[in-house]
Amino acid sequence: MCGIVGYIGTKKASPILINGLIRLEYRGYDSAGISTIEKENLSLMKDKGRVKNLYNLPGIDDLEGTIGIAHTRWATHGKPSKENSHPHMDNSNTFSAVHNGIIENYNELRKFLGDNGYTFYSQTDTEVIPNLVHYYYSKDTNNDDLKFLRAVKSACSDFKGSFAIEIICKDYPDNMIVVRKDSPLVIGKGDEENFISSDIPAILSFTRDFYLLDDLEFTVLSRNDAKFYDINLNQIDKKTKTIEWDAASSEKNGFDDYMLKEIYEQPTAIRETIGAKLNENSKCEFDELNFTKEYLENINKIYIVACGTAMHAGLVGKNVIEKLCKIQTEVDIASEFRYRDPIIDDKTLCIFISQSGETADTIAALKLSKEKGAKTIAVSNVIGSSITREADYSVYTHAGPEIAVASTKAYTSQVMLLVILAIYFAETLYINEDKIKELKKDILELPKKLEETLKISENIKEFAKKVYQETDIFFLGRGIDETVAREASLKLKEISYIHSESYAAGELKHGPIALIENGITVVSIMTDSKLVEKTVSNVQEVISRGAKTIVVTNQNIDDTMFEKVIHIPTTNSFISPILSIIPLQLFSYYISKEKGLDVDKPRNLAKSVTVE
Ligand code: AGP
Ligand code: GLU
Repeated sequence: MCGIVGYIGTKKASPILINGLIRLEYRGYDSAGISTIEKENLSLMKDKGRVKNLYNLPGIDDLEGTIGIAHTRWATHGKPSKENSHPHMDNSNTFSAVHNGIIENYNELRKFLGDNGYTFYSQTDTEVIPNLVHYYYSKDTNNDDLKFLRAVKSACSDFKGSFAIEIICKDYPDNMIVVRKDSPLVIGKGDEENFISSDIPAILSFTRDFYLLDDLEFTVLSRNDAKFYDINLNQIDKKTKTIEWDAASSEKNGFDDYMLKEIYEQPTAIRETIGAKLNENSKCEFDELNFTKEYLENINKIYIVACGTAMHAGLVGKNVIEKLCKIQTEVDIASEFRYRDPIIDDKTLCIFISQSGETADTIAALKLSKEKGAKTIAVSNVIGSSITREADYSVYTHAGPEIAVASTKAYTSQVMLLVILAIYFAETLYINEDKIKELKKDILELPKKLEETLKISENIKEFAKKVYQETDIFFLGRGIDETVAREASLKLKEISYIHSESYAAGELKHGPIALIENGITVVSIMTDSKLVEKTVSNVQEVISRGAKTIVVTNQNIDDTMFEKVIHIPTTNSFISPILSIIPLQLFSYYISKEKGLDVDKPRNLAKSVTVE
């Protein structure tokens, strides 16, 4: 979703702001803008289109201000246009604000402000923000240091919905106020300067020390200071958190695209995910969890809730938790789960997976589960993200920053972490079967096998060249391979814009086989020795109807039946998705490249979906 950047310090703000926006471009956006405090007045420069267009706006080079706010918009209310771009100012040009999220009661507030003489120039919900702040500001007769803060606080108390807001005021040239509710925002502490950003990687090159804001904590920033207030405007203490990622790991490191770099980082990411949690000779350790045998024995159900790729990782998690721990596990899409009144009580354990930790639907589903009394675990890649602050327990994938919109290393590391979590549950329950020992051994060998798989998978590039102009591609699998088929199909849709479907191979003849016609490409995954023959028969059915078939397998099959077979290393079926998805991630990547598309920033998509 949109990106927010802010700067307050001793340097010229505008280049820092534009640079920050460029680093947030991967989140997806349609327009960009900045506003700075220039002597007595606020500047405002914005337009539809790419961030770099800002460099061409007349007067941008003349901005001298050392305080400024900036935004990339991903339109929710009103089309992408210059008028709707952020920042937005109030009618008197006293306040300038940027906003990520949705003010749900904006119509009501617009009417109220309209009745009080305010005019609106955009179609956005955001424009009520600076105007409502101005409304309260103009009513306050006490001209002290906190007048600006009181006005922002009063306005925020009226907002329903989600918001991360940065606001500056021409009467307070040394301050900026930021506040968030259900939308991301972090503050980076520098030396005689402070940085604000929607996420950590965008400002990692400036600082490693961050303040993480909770909902409705108001921050008044100055060059040398950050003061925090609760909703009653009582001052609160906050410590910085040091982030270990280095800025270099957020760069492309010689790869053409972030996605390709992230695909090749998977052996390292998996090593990091395993970390010290798992070794062959002792029980799995999670410092973050303190579950007892009694607690786990009394669980009535586990829910795994997430969106998109993270949900696909959840499907692999269900398979391993049910098989190893014998606890019933359901996987749900967060946007459905939150509105379907799920059956949850204090014996339910809910696991929420989110790479970014900022996905609005997943956060809402988490809050709902807590209200209903469940224990909650967040599985995330981003330390201090909203979901990890909301959950009772948080476990981290440690995959390093993922910049490409299409998730790759986050998926495999989520799968890895869920498998280790299942082993932890099983061992806490004193289930000590030989198959756990074998699984641990296979997990420890996995990074090497991933390296091997990456080498083998390179030759998929040639096949991608043959099929890149197709309009429909099908993915099939059974059992655990069916979950990989779903993820592979999503990846292809996201970055190649080719229509694609995934099906349980046995389901094909109940309808979808009607779509199979001469020349269509069908990709199947076969890694389960018990199911391979069944899947081969299903693929035979599509070959008979003229399909071109590509197979990813670790089984001995008759290669001559298929157009192309990619043989990946064998491993334990619980973790086979971590290997079998690799050639299919590369398949999508090379098709997208062949089509000349923007792999890292596919159309219409955003890296972190912070609105419902
Ligand atoms: C993955 O390629 C997608 N871009 C998308 O499905 C993503 O996994 C989903 O939006 C969830 O994001 P999260 O993990 O940050 O919550
Ligand atoms: N709702 C606001 C708008 O449409 C903000 C969208 C965003 O988060 O970029 O302008």
